[in-house]
Amino acid sequence: MGVSGGIAAYKAAEIVSRLTRLGADVHVIMTAAATRLVGPMTFQGVSGNPVATDLFAEPRRWNIEHIALADRAQLVLVAPATANVMGKLAAGIADDFLTTTILATEAPVILAPAMHDRMWRNPIVQANAERLRRAGFAIIEPEYGRLASGALGQGRLPDPESVVEVVVQAMFRPKDLAGVPVLVTAGPTRERIDPVRYLSNFSSGKMGYSLAAAAAERGARVTLVSGPVDLPSPPGVEVVRVDSAVEMAEEVWRRAAAAQVVVMAAAVADYRAAEAATAKLKRGSGDLVIRLVPNPDIIGELGRTKGKRLLVGFAAETDDLVINARAKLAAKNLDLVCANWVDRAGQGFGTDTNALTLIDRSGGVLEVPLQDKRAVAHAVWDRVRGLLGAGETEVLVPPAPDPCLPSGDGQC
Ligand code: CTP
Repeated sequence: MGVSGGIAAYKAAEIVSRLTRLGADVHVIMTAAATRLVGPMTFQGVSGNPVATDLFAEPRRWNIEHIALADRAQLVLVAPATANVMGKLAAGIADDFLTTTILATEAPVILAPAMHDRMWRNPIVQANAERLRRAGFAIIEPEYGRLASGALGQGRLPDPESVVEVVVQAMFRPKDLAGVPVLVTAGPTRERIDPVRYLSNFSSGKMGYSLAAAAAERGARVTLVSGPVDLPSPPGVEVVRVDSAVEMAEEVWRRAAAAQVVVMAAAVADYRAAEAATAKLKRGSGDLVIRLVPNPDIIGELGRTKGKRLLVGFAAETDDLVINARAKLAAKNLDLVCANWVDRAGQGFGTDTNALTLIDRSGGVLEVPLQDKRAVAHAVWDRVRGLLGAGETEVLVPPAPDPCLPSGDGQC
């Protein structure tokens, strides 16, 4: 466990204490700045192990101590992770015990940033965080709340219990999707009307991103085809960014052949403008009529050419949830449909939580109660895992091209 020099370093002692009580063998590495805030003896006391602070100190247990720690670690947690430590890691700088150990380890690394909210929002810090995510580091998002400065903002280290929960999940999450190629879609699509306007919907992409992150945690090889959203790439996931439904269809159909499971969580726009204007539409005195033509039904086409691939769809409904979801499952030849109410508090578009009704081909219905979208995502993968185990799996033929891909003039 790395402790860097943020005010939240005092919370790190509680994290070490909880992990130790759970039976973990915790070795703490402190940066020089952290030692100014909390004494190394505190961490030695709660972990029962010597605390590493100085790269050039006499080795106490192993030769080249940072390499020995890097080799032995099953997981590295840095809490709090300062902007400085994140910047150094993102740049590959190793100038102290902590950064050297992290660059030398093959264990999963979880960073729990904590800093002033303006620092966290700084584009350079955000770019570093994104770079680290892409390199496979997991980042526990700082919480919103009262900061050390007294101001309110996003920058707090989550409470020790939540941090420990993330560590435990990362260490003991079953790798029951190891090597399974998975394709997930997320977010809305944007359908251009003219160079400055588009039709879209309120999807935030959070459910699809949680599904992709959860599958990667379980060992799947995940590709995420994402509509335009403001979310960081989940660690270990290949993200393909698209804008319109037609672009999403092309990317999904091209990649679906290699996937064993396809989960369409995207809120795909069903229609697009027959012809997007090339010049900005001007305000006129009368009504404006825009003719809309249907977009390709991405999942419907996958259902038609399905083979043994497992196809999971979403059904966002405002009434008759189960009846409508069952009809979608049958009409689109799905194996599982995840139905949710889009007009209930805490569920659906834009929220951090969700509740789903999972309906499978054989009629089985499972209620997933309202909870964090990541936990909901794992409940979906539990069900998918069950369905994969029940059937055979094989490599599939690519789907036929959709008869309704637009030609250059916007017609099908
Ligand atoms: N979907 C798709 N292509 C579309 C529209 C939807 O692949 N053009 C997928 C969604 O990703 C979702 C499922 O189809 O997995 C159902 O989406 P939804 O919008 O609820 O259903 P529709 O079939 O569009 O039906 P309706 O909007 O009439 O309820």
